[in-house]
Amino acid sequence: MRFDILTVMPEMFSAVTEQGVTGRACRNGIATAKCWNPREFASDKHRTVDDRSYGGGPGMVMLYEPLAKTLDAIAEDVESSGKKAGPVLYLSPQGERWNQQLAAELGQFEQVTLLAGRYEGVDERLIESRVDREISIGDFVTSGGELPAMVMMDTMIRLLPGALGNIDSAEQDSFSDGLLDCPHYSRPEAVGEDGELKVPAVLMSGDHKKIQQWRLQQSLGRTSERRPDLLADRELNKQEQVLLREWQAAQGPAE
Ligand SMILES: C[S@@+](CC[C@H](N)C(=O)[O-])C[C@H]1O[C@@H](n2cnc3c(N)ncnc32)[C@H](O)[C@@H]1O
Repeated sequence: MRFDILTVMPEMFSAVTEQGVTGRACRNGIATAKCWNPREFASDKHRTVDDRSYGGGPGMVMLYEPLAKTLDAIAEDVESSGKKAGPVLYLSPQGERWNQQLAAELGQFEQVTLLAGRYEGVDERLIESRVDREISIGDFVTSGGELPAMVMMDTMIRLLPGALGNIDSAEQDSFSDGLLDCPHYSRPEAVGEDGELKVPAVLMSGDHKKIQQWRLQQSLGRTSERRPDLLADRELNKQEQVLLREWQAAQGPAE
């Protein structure tokens, strides 16, 4: 999958393109990322990409012209690469909320363009005429669209075939089947001053069916406790209903 990122701070993206799972996916050619700085498409000698807001008020606005020219250059480059151009996505706190389903949906494209805003944001006319979708990573405001763009890239890249060493780990992650992930434990079997913090016995039993049931039950219990909204959107089958009832009974009456 190819990512084209319109940004005035291209250096930030090495965190995604060089580090960890996403860095490895970029090195292996599973994902490619190309940054485009609109300053290179500005027409004045100061390489201006922002100006004051019509109507007054604090903060600067990113200019239509250099952004439009950058998007034209991206479109041309994608076309000449033989890839099918995907949507132009503007990172914005006013956009639709980013989540795992949207990551899986947009990850189907061969290419996406991410427009990272700065200052007060982008001239509305550019959004109206050139942006396909606005995406928000949550109800808060970051200083620029670079971190949100990196969040999107990371989420999508780890879902691409071959990006993770073990594909199961993406399939079992929180949200992939509408539930939160179960708790995880590793060596040693007991920790704490007196070794009182133990790994649940079932995980040491070697009984894979029981372990799978325990994990599903933990996922159901956690989701009902921490994110009941997720359960409202997901129909539980008979076995899941029984497991959840058992989990709830084991918690005792609510205080
Ligand atoms: C300081 S913000 C501008 C916020 C804008 N004035 C508003 O209140 O809607 C600068 C840029 O950061 C990015 N941004 C900020 N918060 C974001 C969020 N929650 N999700 C996605 N992008 C965000 C956008 O690209 C935005 O243009």
